[in-house]
Amino acid sequence: MARDIEARLDDREYVRPPVEFVGQANCTDRSVHDRFEEEWPDAYETYADLLDWDRRWETVLDDSDPPFYEWFVGGRLNASRNCVDRHLDDRGDQAALVWEGEDGSRRTVTYRDLYRRVNATAAALRDLGVDRDDVVTVHLPMVPALPVTMLACARIGAVHSVVFAGFSASALADRLDDADSDVLVTVDGYYRRGEFLDHKAKVDAAVAEAGTDVRDVVVFERHGSAVHEPGAAPADANADADAKERVDPDDLTERDVLAADLLAERERREVDPVSRDAEDPLFLMYTSGTTGQPKGCQHRTGGYLAYAAATTKYVLDVTPADTYWCAADIGWITGHSYIVYGPLALGTTSVMYEGAPDHPHRGRVWEIAERHDVDVFHTSPTAVRQFMKWGEQHLAEYDFDVRHLTTVGEPIQPEAWRWYHEHVGGGDAVVVDTWWQTETGGHLITNLPALDDMKPGSAGRPCPGIGAAVYDDDGDPVPERSDRAGNLVIERPWPGMLQTVYGDDERFVEEYWRRFSDLDSDDPADWVYETGDGAVHESDGYFRVLGRLDDVMNVAGHRLGTMELESAVCEADGVAEAAVVARQDDQKGEAPDAYVTLRDGVDPSESVRKGVVAAVESAIGPFARPANVYFVDELPKTRSGKIMRRLLADVSNGAELGNTTTLHDPSVPERIREQVGD
Ligand code: PRX
Repeated sequence: MARDIEARLDDREYVRPPVEFVGQANCTDRSVHDRFEEEWPDAYETYADLLDWDRRWETVLDDSDPPFYEWFVGGRLNASRNCVDRHLDDRGDQAALVWEGEDGSRRTVTYRDLYRRVNATAAALRDLGVDRDDVVTVHLPMVPALPVTMLACARIGAVHSVVFAGFSASALADRLDDADSDVLVTVDGYYRRGEFLDHKAKVDAAVAEAGTDVRDVVVFERHGSAVHEPGAAPADANADADAKERVDPDDLTERDVLAADLLAERERREVDPVSRDAEDPLFLMYTSGTTGQPKGCQHRTGGYLAYAAATTKYVLDVTPADTYWCAADIGWITGHSYIVYGPLALGTTSVMYEGAPDHPHRGRVWEIAERHDVDVFHTSPTAVRQFMKWGEQHLAEYDFDVRHLTTVGEPIQPEAWRWYHEHVGGGDAVVVDTWWQTETGGHLITNLPALDDMKPGSAGRPCPGIGAAVYDDDGDPVPERSDRAGNLVIERPWPGMLQTVYGDDERFVEEYWRRFSDLDSDDPADWVYETGDGAVHESDGYFRVLGRLDDVMNVAGHRLGTMELESAVCEADGVAEAAVVARQDDQKGEAPDAYVTLRDGVDPSESVRKGVVAAVESAIGPFARPANVYFVDELPKTRSGKIMRRLLADVSNGAELGNTTTLHDPSVPERIREQVGD
């Protein structure tokens, strides 16, 4: 992808934000960047002021023990109160969530409904023994019960760990174990491309596999219309009420408890929001890194919520009057910050869609945009490429008028950018390309839409106060605006940053700080955050992000660690050794290619190949499936036995082979190229 974008540098242009957009934008203050520089870090108080605090902070930033920074020190607040209770007086009857099931069922959850549901769920969790700081693992697809459960956890001071519904039983078990979580919230099943997926069977397998003793499994039911919840408004008549029967009680284990039963008994219960220290953790979000074990990024309550709310307001330009649709999954960080916490903290209406964008037809997304009169739309470049491939005729019959479009997760190619701008944005919407990570909590590099011209393929300027820079491999800063590629780093802390890796401060330092920091120093100026991405700081001050430089790939906007994939492949029968590399893919951005050597006596066959694919699906999930499985005689290794994945990536991408002189046998990559026939 990086190469792809680089090749198109020449045909890039600037696009002005339309005057009508600028006239109504939330941030039109041209001095904002300078002000944040001059008043750093105190300028971040304006972000915290977007929230209601039980007690105001005393210090904006305590940086005395880098990289363990503390934000809004001494402040107290509750995230659920900020996203729900405080909106009741002004907009209790306004939709907080507009939910569209894939099967045609629909639900509108007003702020008042949300208040009731969050309270009932918080009461249920508390009665199950969940205490403050306990980690509740939530394995729910895109149903309203997911944001409700997150906010219920926040209400009682519990820490949620949402595991994307597409993860396998083993991946869920790993995350339950790492967080030592004894309560799991899930659903019997959900719809995907017209099929009802049995989610519960997977959860049962995960609980059986987990080392930790899961005490309670709360099971929502997705049958007929929406998620069965007492007191919920009836869904539209078009829902097929008989689509799925209720869970058969015989299918429940002794640790399972039906959410419907728990909630029916607590319909009108109110639970006072627990006042949390600004530094108390709000949630964990596991993400892939360069080792086999995913990292539990721990996010704090005050800094995270302030940063998510402020970037939603100033970058996504959302107001309470808007209908805003972020077509991501809440199971990833984008959904946490920009479906749940940011929009709800601001009191806006957020759309949630359960299913596939092409089910039952390729205009589904635009049909939903029209029905709800969506003003701001947020998606990934992978989705844009998909829409582009399907063609603009699928938009033609729907009438909607978005003023603001966002992308996230990968670099966007200028053609895809232009198509998005013209066909989804009607040629007069702003498009912002937002660069950030699970660890950063919110956007770090992106234009403020009314202030800076758009430039297709560039994420743009750092957000106010963000110390983005490019360093060379020796750890020295590359001169600013020099158009030279290097390592993208962040030189200063920011309120949305992760606090640590859950339970592993050492790994936090290792993964993010060791490479570019002076670990012996307690001067924050010596601590530099490593993003793992490559970037160019362009002469106009914009950053063009090139993609990951480490052994992490980006498949359809999902981050996958090479090591995780390789250990999964090695689980397959007959496999001796494996290397996984990223192949550039027109649709997905990158796709994993697996190079495999087989044990003595095992011959390459379709059944071994299927075994490899199945092993990845079982360890991680179907979304991580390799694009190709290549059986080779030998992997390219250095004299000291290290696999040179770079050369395999050259083979996968039809590129000229890089330097092979350090290989034990320099002829291996050529032989592999012949063998795989690429
Ligand atoms: O490589 C960058 C890419 O996605 C990575 C972060 O992945 P994740 O933690 O899963 O979070 C994705 C959603 C925030 C980054 O290290 N990435 C993210 N946004 C962009 C991007 N690459 C280029 N341009 C972007 N706008």
